[in-house]
Amino acid sequence: MSLASRPDIISFAGGMPGNELFPVEAIEELFRGLDTRSKRAAFQYGPTPGLPSLLESLGGFLERKGLPVKSNRLMITTGSQQALSILARAFVDPGDRVLTEYPCFIGAISAFRACGAEIIALPVDEEGIDIERLSEEVQRPDLAKFLYITPYFHNPAGMLYGTERKRQLIETLQGRDVPLIEDDAYGELWFSEEDRERLQPIKSIDPEGIDVCYIGSFSKILGPGLRLGWMLAPESIYEKCELIKQSADACSPSFSQVIADAFIRSGKIGPYIASVREEYKRRAACMSDALRRYLPDYVKWNEPRGGFYIWLTLPEGTDSAKILKLAIERGAVFVTGSTFDPDGTRNDTMRISYCNNTPEEINKGIPIIAAAIREICG
Ligand SMILES: Cc1ncc(COP(=O)(O)O)c(C=O)c1O
Repeated sequence: MSLASRPDIISFAGGMPGNELFPVEAIEELFRGLDTRSKRAAFQYGPTPGLPSLLESLGGFLERKGLPVKSNRLMITTGSQQALSILARAFVDPGDRVLTEYPCFIGAISAFRACGAEIIALPVDEEGIDIERLSEEVQRPDLAKFLYITPYFHNPAGMLYGTERKRQLIETLQGRDVPLIEDDAYGELWFSEEDRERLQPIKSIDPEGIDVCYIGSFSKILGPGLRLGWMLAPESIYEKCELIKQSADACSPSFSQVIADAFIRSGKIGPYIASVREEYKRRAACMSDALRRYLPDYVKWNEPRGGFYIWLTLPEGTDSAKILKLAIERGAVFVTGSTFDPDGTRNDTMRISYCNNTPEEINKGIPIIAAAIREICG
């Protein structure tokens, strides 16, 4: 974060929305238009599960995505990072095994580690998690406490789960007593209508014999500074989570909740998401174009279909930290692969993001990274 904010460095490291994309004027106008009672409520403590008005409007938003809001319980959290933290505390005792993907979102790794979890990271390919490995894991006597996945524009791998792989995953987990945490932080940021079917959350099926805890966030569809996320979970899990949240922060920021509620109810959220989707699609296309032009052929990557990230796979055994050092000296920064490895060892990969860069920055920064790769890998 500190390198990313240095003005002389082009950062492809952050997972932050573009500052210039935030709907500042729309929010100013919405807040001004609220009645005094709502404005005062924004300064006040609120109920632990969230302001009733936001629970209702967000519930409607999620129902339109096909999520089973009425047969589960919805909770507003302080970012979806808090949802991860609460779920980890609800499920994990020190030494317990939990299953994640490799690579895995760093915030999830740290939330699970903080509870003393032993993280077992199962590899992913372009279609999703390795089902054979998952199948072995769910048959062990020392069963994992849950499986955590990010199926929609994965952070950091960028990939989108295939429909068949999701079906296999459901079949593998059914009746196994391994709850599923489905993290959908980026699903709204798709680039092609064709992918809509693949984006249908597993939670929307709510398959029998699996407790699915679905988590999401306003961070990428409004602004991470609001620190607002949510969790949709079965009643029994929800109850434990509510107690944990109460001890963590009593309630999520009321101010943010009033704003998010007004944003949904005004009908502005849909057009806003559509506009940022288009912008990220343009940035992704610009980044792909630069990668095609400058990267050596031995670096493997996939065209982004949504979200914020491209995952580069370098020749086996490469240490991407050496590439990072050179790139920083010359003015560009990215995140090394080992950051997303729960074991912290595998480092022949790297994540570059396109979400917060102009075409000029992309066209200046990618040649720097490509040159650093050639210098280290030959
Ligand atoms: C996959 C994933 N999940 C959860 C989060 C947490 O986001 P927030 O706490 O801002 O909602 C992030 C943030 O980058 C993420 O990439």
